[in-house]
Amino acid sequence: MPSSAAYEATGVTTTPWIVDLASGIREVLRRDLTPLMTARQVAEVLRPSLGRPDLLTAAQQEGDPQTYRQHLLHGEPDGSFSVVALVWLPGQRTPIHDHVCWCVAGVHQGQETEHRYRLTGDGGATELVRDRSLVNPTGALSAIAPPGDIHQVCNTGSSKAISLHIYGADISRLGTSVRRTYPAPHDET
Ligand SMILES: [Fe+2]
Repeated sequence: MPSSAAYEATGVTTTPWIVDLASGIREVLRRDLTPLMTARQVAEVLRPSLGRPDLLTAAQQEGDPQTYRQHLLHGEPDGSFSVVALVWLPGQRTPIHDHVCWCVAGVHQGQETEHRYRLTGDGGATELVRDRSLVNPTGALSAIAPPGDIHQVCNTGSSKAISLHIYGADISRLGTSVRRTYPAPHDET
């Protein structure tokens, strides 16, 4: 079992739990599955890490009063996946967005609310419609892959929320996994 000490790996300060997690993700990628199946199996690799008090360093749990904050935890050297922690203070939210790659999210601390959307209509007059909303407590996991992955994540709780996100892309190079953002539907503005 990894110890709680933090150290440097792949150029990012990380903990042994994250090193262990990266090893498990690598194992899934070797199976060469579809993007959605990859995301689902990576979610199962992430599950035991959620809620562990020694998963993140103190610095990786820091938020930003201006906006939700992203901490890069691991960038795979070949660019095939990245692990980040997102820290949300109460009321903070992402724009409505989708992704360039498969994505796994797991709530490590607190509670997050996720709104899922879909586009309706033809190419000339598409409209965004909210399909459903999910309240995700600590330990909740989601696995998505484009297309059809338009969503928004919010901290609707009264305390800090932290989630781990694993992306099938090189976030250290791209900076983000977001493909595009969308304006809110008229009935939500
Ligand atoms: Fe997202």
